[in-house]
Amino acid sequence: MCGIVAVTGYRQALPILVKGLEKLEYRGYDSAGVAVIDSNNNLICHRSEGKLKKLKNKLNKKTINGSLGIGHTRWATHGKPVLKNAHPHFDSTKQVAVVQNGIIENYLELKTKLELDGIVFNSETDTEVIPHLIQKELHNLGTLNLENSGSTLLIAVRNVISDLEGAYAIAVIWSGSPDSLIVARKQAPLIIGLGEGEFVCASDTPAITNITNTILPMEDEEMALLTPLGIEIYNSENERQYRNPISLKLSEQIIDKKQFKHYMLKEIYDQPQIAKNWIKQFLGNDLSSFTSINYSFDIGFLENIEQIQILACGTSRHAALIGSYLLEQYAGIPTTVFYASEFRYSPPPLSPNILTIGVTQSGETADTLAALNMEIKRRQSSGKESYKPNLIAITNRLDSSISRLIPNVIDISAGIEIGVAATKTFFGQLLSFYGLAITFAQLRKSKTSEEINNMISNLIKIPSLLEDLIISHNEIAEELAHNFSNIKDVIFLGRGINYPIALEGALKLKEISYIHAAGYPAGEMKHGPIALLEKKVPVISIATPGNVFEKVISNAQEAKARDSYLVGIAPECEGTEIFDYLIPLPLTDEWMYPLLTVVPMQLLSYHIAAHRGLDVDQPRNLAKSVTVE
Ligand code: M6R
Repeated sequence: MCGIVAVTGYRQALPILVKGLEKLEYRGYDSAGVAVIDSNNNLICHRSEGKLKKLKNKLNKKTINGSLGIGHTRWATHGKPVLKNAHPHFDSTKQVAVVQNGIIENYLELKTKLELDGIVFNSETDTEVIPHLIQKELHNLGTLNLENSGSTLLIAVRNVISDLEGAYAIAVIWSGSPDSLIVARKQAPLIIGLGEGEFVCASDTPAITNITNTILPMEDEEMALLTPLGIEIYNSENERQYRNPISLKLSEQIIDKKQFKHYMLKEIYDQPQIAKNWIKQFLGNDLSSFTSINYSFDIGFLENIEQIQILACGTSRHAALIGSYLLEQYAGIPTTVFYASEFRYSPPPLSPNILTIGVTQSGETADTLAALNMEIKRRQSSGKESYKPNLIAITNRLDSSISRLIPNVIDISAGIEIGVAATKTFFGQLLSFYGLAITFAQLRKSKTSEEINNMISNLIKIPSLLEDLIISHNEIAEELAHNFSNIKDVIFLGRGINYPIALEGALKLKEISYIHAAGYPAGEMKHGPIALLEKKVPVISIATPGNVFEKVISNAQEAKARDSYLVGIAPECEGTEIFDYLIPLPLTDEWMYPLLTVVPMQLLSYHIAAHRGLDVDQPRNLAKSVTVE
């Protein structure tokens, strides 16, 4: 994915674009660029390889007089992360500039045709076909009618879009229409912000909030013409669309690192507050009279559900694995978790009365959206009532594509997460699954009200347990990070409800420290991974009191016998003396542990990466949400 920001108005565009890009850098940081139409109607462009700060240095001594512009921060898909592939891209006359997010799947075919017409390409990107095609359309339309130049550009872009295949968002400017901005989206996000005498458009809300809190999210396959005088939005049938703007929630407006060195650390520290908010929102204010979890939709359709399937990627999939453990072991409903990217091309045969849950913090992950779209379509076209799609989305972004696709949304309300490695949103997703497990236990009467009340009272204790845990584990993780400064491989072990936490611990470490790490169910280690163990390979083992505690301790013994340095995430109790280093946990109910055991995993990866001087919030090759397949 990439970040797009664009503006038309009365103020200088350049500072607005740069400020917007600062807020979107989490979406990609391979290169950055801006293009502005200056007061002489010339298209001026500056681009830089690498992070935004390089572009900012380049722009330092420059002023561009102009109030129409586009900006981009790139996560490379087609073509290496080098200068020539940085956006914006242009037509041969350098009159049209385009920034794009997503992928143009048929670009090679389009490029070949353009090359036969004599067009010379300057980049390896899929994007560059767009400005060349727009210029061709403008030429065909006759560009001399400059009174309606905005409409001319709109028609030209519309004609080009009809030939594009793929999922994308674009913003286009043309020196022939010095105040018109054209934006369009297809399965990639774009939001329009309504300022006073100016309009901004961006891939995500943070790039807009310094100008306005009033937004118009664009619907799929819409395009818009923005000028300082107003906005025209059209659907794919070219019908003008009218809708009311919405106000952003406060949590979507505030992005503050506070006193923390990195967003990731701040977001780890946000988790107790997220738990408090969740308790208030989903359990209600009066806990003594708890009856059911509060949802923003009617849960009547869940009554006939016999099975659940969950589609997700990455960290969201790890949350789903814990969800599936809770749904099966606590609520007694068969549940399967799929990699969304696999499900799309090899779904299981249709079965009746199944609930499909899509989990994505960003709400924009292409694999998850595509898998859900496919599932909805094949169920709708089956014609059988029992096969009809029953859907729930779990997301952190109510303004995202998944929230528009699925009517029943569980909003984890964690506030925007800036660190590319997901932490607090994982925690929010876990809480949503605790809620769903309680709901299904009630619907299926698989737990007594006493057992459910017990679960509720344990959940209520989580915020205060977490507050203490984060403070103490932060110190421990910092100390341990020094001991681990030269490690190259780490094994994470967990079992039962904590097995997905081992997977998540390994993913976090890989993502931000670039250290090879693998998570295994502790009992599986002896079936192969044990061959990796030696003195230099630490084993981090999660051992929480419950039905597999002794088993995990025995598995840890096996690692110790192979000279591995053993770190235990466990309460101080009999058995845990085996660990070379103990990260202590409080004693609580077994069901609660994933909400606690994830914290030392997050803090350990954070401190190891920070200790190595790495860019924790923007790790190499990654982007916050992956809007390409
Ligand atoms: O936005 P999503 O939750 O759908 O994102 C899914 C994955 O791309 C994401 O969890 C990824 O694994 C993160 N970098 C994890 O830290």
